[in-house]
Amino acid sequence: SKAPYIDPFGRAITYLRVSVTDRCDFRCVYCMSENMSFLPKQDLLTLEELDRLCSAFIARGVRKLRLTGGEPLVRRGIMGLFESLARHRQSGALEELTLTTNGSQLAKHARDLKQNGVERINVSLDTLDAKKFREITRWGDLSKVLEGIDAAQAEGLKVKINAVALRGVNEDEIPAMIDWAHGRDMDMTLIEVMPLGDVGAGRLDQYLPLSMVRTRLAERYTLTELDYRTGGPARYVRVEETKGRLGFITPLTHNFCESCNRVRLTCTGTLFMCLGQEDAADLRTPLRASESNELLEAAIANAIARKPKGHDFIIDRRHQGPAVGRHMSVTGG
Ligand code: GTP
Ligand code: 5AD
Ligand code: SF4
Repeated sequence: SKAPYIDPFGRAITYLRVSVTDRCDFRCVYCMSENMSFLPKQDLLTLEELDRLCSAFIARGVRKLRLTGGEPLVRRGIMGLFESLARHRQSGALEELTLTTNGSQLAKHARDLKQNGVERINVSLDTLDAKKFREITRWGDLSKVLEGIDAAQAEGLKVKINAVALRGVNEDEIPAMIDWAHGRDMDMTLIEVMPLGDVGAGRLDQYLPLSMVRTRLAERYTLTELDYRTGGPARYVRVEETKGRLGFITPLTHNFCESCNRVRLTCTGTLFMCLGQEDAADLRTPLRASESNELLEAAIANAIARKPKGHDFIIDRRHQGPAVGRHMSVTGG
């Protein structure tokens, strides 16, 4: 395949994240508002179009592809997309094909994921307390997610747990979650809440700086810095007591934009060059304009040539509103 796209800051774009739907069967309080409006269904790319777009990126040096949402497993027929993308794993063009899921539908898809070349998945889970889980997701059923994780592990998928650190909600539970995840041979990553979209709550009430969490964890555990990287933004430590890996995703307290290697595609074919900026490029028009990929490739090159340096997230007393209007579910984390 050709050399990867390089952005104006010398960063090679080797990681594509695709939000295959902005819909979700949960409404996490830090992610969505209670009454969300979703993208119009008639604007959706078909799964064939999504495949064509992903393949165009892979032909230009993308090595890691993650399907996200919303909740990717609520998109009808989604396993067909995994099935067709699996050819890029078989050919070796893709080093990783994966997804980030809330786990609610994972039990029924775990086997097919494994069979389509997925090896490692991320499951978003912020608490192990069923009542709290219901509060955070607004109506989610924790037992379904735990069943999904069991099924994934039984199929031999490596599972990483992603937990958003939430002030006063799960902060006391973080050590218990680490013990649980590591006890089941799962990595775990903590994430700082980001000010994306109006969720009907002040971000300062939700935001828990991970620098603080880490200081507290260091009183209880021995944390050893690791060089281990996955291509994502997390910095990892080994927790000596549990012998597991713990990652920190710290957009607010320790910006990692300098090493950004990714762009994001939405389910309507819009390319976002940064999670925290408004600028976007329409890829649906060039995709549909022609069977050949020339226009499309030109549009992608043009978009990457204006990838911004990074986000401008701030959460403090004066900045409690969104940095950008769209929710995380549109751009897929
Ligand atoms: P792996 O490292 O491969 O496990 O994945 P990842 O961490 O890249 O993907 P995942 O879906 O687990 O991402 C977890 C969360 O990290 C996302 O939901 C976002 O909240 C955050 N994140 C991922 N990429 C970026 C990024 O480029 N910028 C910012 N600010 N946050 C990001
Ligand atoms: N800030 C940080 N993480 C978020 N997620 C959703 N919204 C936000 C936000 N505003 C996380 C989910 C999941 C991933 C897809 O994104 O919990 O782990
Ligand atoms: Fe759905 Fe994930 Fe957003 Fe929760 S965080 S509402 S599970 S997309």
